[in-house]
Amino acid sequence: MSSIAFELNGKPVTVNVEADMPLLWVLREVLGLTGTKYGCGRGLCGCCTVHIGGQAARSCMVPAQNVAGLAVTTIEGLAPDNAHPLQRAWLRLAVAQCGYCQVGQLMTAAALLAHGAEPSDDEIDAAMSGVLCRCGTYPRIRDAIRLAVALQRAGASSSSSG
Ligand code: FES
Ligand code: FES
Repeated sequence: MSSIAFELNGKPVTVNVEADMPLLWVLREVLGLTGTKYGCGRGLCGCCTVHIGGQAARSCMVPAQNVAGLAVTTIEGLAPDNAHPLQRAWLRLAVAQCGYCQVGQLMTAAALLAHGAEPSDDEIDAAMSGVLCRCGTYPRIRDAIRLAVALQRAGASSSSSG
């Protein structure tokens, strides 16, 4: 067992786990954050996506020891009150069908939109193409990301003008 300290959703945590335990299981089984989902366990579907140091990463493929000293963000810590522009857009457009893949979709999109980025349609497609949805919600996901960009822009202009 190893003692591994990192930042999780803005707060310091320390876990005692096998160093090669996948981060996905650290989050779900050790820390009880079940928002991050298990799909394939092989880095193929994207539904386990979290942010590590601000970058989207597939937590099923990241050994716990690799996040020592780093900042990890899960869906539970994406935004207070689930008010991230993407979360608002997702609800407004009723993107989810069964919902299983949606956290991975949101976390992947959130990394893309970080720091006020305004990705082109091609950039959206490139970033999202590896996150699989068995329900085929891809058109709504794309629309919601576009809406979130607009909401983000509107929020930025109202905060700069106010
Ligand atoms: S569960 Fe991690 S990529 Fe599928
Ligand atoms: S909403 Fe069902 S798998 Fe994507």
